[in-house]
Amino acid sequence: MRLVVSFGLGVVAVAGLVACLPPGQKGPQTTGASDFADLCAPCHGPAGVGDGPMAADLEIKPADLTGLAARNGGEFPLARVMSKIWGYSEGAVPSMMPQFGPLLDSPTVLVDVGDGIQTPTPERLIDLADYLKTIQG
Ligand code: HEC
Repeated sequence: MRLVVSFGLGVVAVAGLVACLPPGQKGPQTTGASDFADLCAPCHGPAGVGDGPMAADLEIKPADLTGLAARNGGEFPLARVMSKIWGYSEGAVPSMMPQFGPLLDSPTVLVDVGDGIQTPTPERLIDLADYLKTIQG
């Protein structure tokens, strides 16, 4: 009897855990803001200035993401930002910045990131980049 009871509890516990997991591939439940809060704020801080709770423990400090445009002559460096998030460009070496490609994998849409070429790009990556645009100082 005891076994049955604890088995039942186990199933409930696992179901609860799964419900708490980030939505993963299911793009529509996430927004750029929610992905930022979940994935980026721990290091870059809730407002993106680089003061997240994990920042103090990092040897290389998280960048101030509100200054991306300012540091690029006033223009938001869309292609560079997206490739940084995805994990194509390494930035400071060694970087403490994880590669988020697998986490942000989602249906693609065609986007011209400034080179005149329509490139299939995961929606969640675009949403995140769009959100970053909104926090430029
Ligand atoms: C584990 C900590 C950590 C997390 C989580 C993290 N970053 Fe970073 N990030 C860094 C560090 C450290 C740097 C500075 C070193 C570098 O450029 O690699 C950085 C740099 C960057 C840069 C480059 C800034 C520049 O001036 O070129 C961008 C863009 C960026 N992060 C965006 C994000 C986004 C968006 C997320 C969430 C999807 C995120 N980061 C999550 C630590 C983190």
